[in-house]
Amino acid sequence: MPLQEIEIPDSIKQLEYSSGAEHLIDTANEAIEAFMLADQTVIENFVTCDFHLVDQAISWIEQNHLLTGDRFCEWGAGFGVAAMLAALRGMQAVGIEIDQRLVNEANAVAESLDNPAQIHCGSFVPRDVEGLDEVASEVRNVDTDEDDMYDEIGIDIEDFDLFFAFPWPGEHGFFEHIFEACAASGSLLLTYRGREGMNLVQKV
Ligand SMILES: C[S@@+](CC[C@H](N)C(=O)[O-])C[C@H]1O[C@@H](n2cnc3c(N)ncnc32)[C@H](O)[C@@H]1O
Repeated sequence: MPLQEIEIPDSIKQLEYSSGAEHLIDTANEAIEAFMLADQTVIENFVTCDFHLVDQAISWIEQNHLLTGDRFCEWGAGFGVAAMLAALRGMQAVGIEIDQRLVNEANAVAESLDNPAQIHCGSFVPRDVEGLDEVASEVRNVDTDEDDMYDEIGIDIEDFDLFFAFPWPGEHGFFEHIFEACAASGSLLLTYRGREGMNLVQKV
């Protein structure tokens, strides 16, 4: 099944932040800064996206009635801020992050804010995705190990309506391949592309 790109206009930057989003982002940013200063070992693949823009992009998706349901999954969640932003507006939100230290930090932030997002430790890469080996050989900044996370979470990958990821430059194809192979028809993949902003594709 092909992916259809949905253009998100630049004007989303003028959208108001959702209720509680700024407090969430400020709290998470403080925790991220403290963690970075305290941690002796650098987690090479961890960088944060533009959380404000994520909030605005989700608002735009909602306003345009593009969602088929309310289940949200952040692939490579880091501090899980996108998942928490989705949970804040009532979505059933989870994050999957491979580094246990980040998972602990993310869940501590969620708990401190009474935010129901759950960040799980493991790889978001499902088992036996056809053709993924070839795409994976081009990828340097994603752990390509396969895992059973969707069984552990108790939500099938086909049951999520919106995925979010922040791929490293040139590596979004890996995320799109998994999305195209495994997600439900009608679901959405939102990716942050640095200076290029947000990219949205729908499985049709
Ligand atoms: C660029 S960071 C993005 C963090 C967060 N989503 C954000 O936008 O701020 C990518 C994260 O993906 C994690 N990661 C890499 N491969 C993974 C995998 N296979 N499964 C889960 N997490 C992974 C890294 O540890 C890192 O924290």
